[in-house]
Amino acid sequence: MADLQQKRIVLGVTGGIAAYKAAELLRLLIKDGADVQVVMTQAACGFITPATMQALSGKPVYTDMWDARAPDNMAHISLTRAADMIVVAPASADFLAKLAQGFADDLLSTLCLARSRGGCRLAVAPAMNREMWGNPATQRNVAQLARDGISILGPASGAQACGEVGAGRMLEASEIHAELCALVEPRLFDGTRILITAGPTFEPIDAVRGITNRSSGKMGYAIARAALAAGAEVTLISGPTALDPPAAACIERVETAAEMYSAVQKHVERADIFISVAAVADYRVDAPRKNKIKKSEDTLTLKLLPNPDILSWVAARPRPPFCVGFAAETDNLVQYAEEKRRRKKIPLLVANLAHEALGADDNELTLLDDDGIHVLPRAAKTALARSLIAYIAARYRATQKS
Ligand code: CTP
Repeated sequence: MADLQQKRIVLGVTGGIAAYKAAELLRLLIKDGADVQVVMTQAACGFITPATMQALSGKPVYTDMWDARAPDNMAHISLTRAADMIVVAPASADFLAKLAQGFADDLLSTLCLARSRGGCRLAVAPAMNREMWGNPATQRNVAQLARDGISILGPASGAQACGEVGAGRMLEASEIHAELCALVEPRLFDGTRILITAGPTFEPIDAVRGITNRSSGKMGYAIARAALAAGAEVTLISGPTALDPPAAACIERVETAAEMYSAVQKHVERADIFISVAAVADYRVDAPRKNKIKKSEDTLTLKLLPNPDILSWVAARPRPPFCVGFAAETDNLVQYAEEKRRRKKIPLLVANLAHEALGADDNELTLLDDDGIHVLPRAAKTALARSLIAYIAARYRATQKS
């Protein structure tokens, strides 16, 4: 069953360039089998037409408080009473301000205010210029919305339609879709503390060069988000990546394997579960140079020293957390991965093929534990992360009972 199948969703669209992404989001929701009613503000209709959204949702779009199609003329009540969730994407700065203050001067703001807070979640995907996002007024409003239990999805950082670069871009439709799936996820990990390592490490050679690998951090970050969605308290220790960390995680940024090791040592005591996704460099350069090494005709020899194996160290502690390892292999996937699981003495190891996994948005995972092999077929890393979290929850719970 798809995550959002049969969920009744009101998709609110407010005025902003990102309104075009709402059409793609609508398509993804419909593909999942959700029942979607689109409501647009007047400003949204300046960016994308209701006809597009009607065609994609298969339903007439509501734009007006006084729409005569609502039999009792109370569209703001009838639309939300039937809904499991309202998602506003894009949510303009103006709309966030209205929500924070409880204004109700058009259909969308009125139905947000009129929703049943027990039965209908509200999520917003902000989209605006970076200065508007950074403005203390917007930040105050967003903090208030979070306090009111409204889910804030994004925004992302990057190039903006206005030509400036910074935070305020709406998440991509696929990212919003993944966050919405996570919102309806069962809270498998309420009260559980999960420590996650993610990304590559960077081992300096000199002041400007280093040894690293192709890990993007996408899988580890997706797992952190899925764990948060399942109710866990997440600490994410991340090597250098270009990704925005999940806002609700406690994030610690590191560069080298030694720094990652120290960070894990600091946090492991409190962890119930340790998920070691990071592609930790196995070696570091002996005595990296403070200055840039100058070119010469001579052969340059680097002496490499082995790094500590962080996962093995955690697993060997007297009362270790439930340990989940990852293995990226280029060949003999199952054999090498099972050997690794036994060598590191961990209950669960997640194996994947390095050339398919590194940097990609999708993947296939092979899970190895005492019960044998279990495959999570190819899917987006965000979806795989949710399936993996559900699997870990089941295994972890079994160890708690025994
Ligand atoms: N790992 C770790 N510390 C290291 C190396 C690896 O914690 N110094 C963890 C990784 O996060 C992963 C697991 O161990 O969960 C396996 O990592 P991988 O690089 O696949 O295996 P290695 O033990 O490094 O063995 P090899 O490189 O020979 O495959």
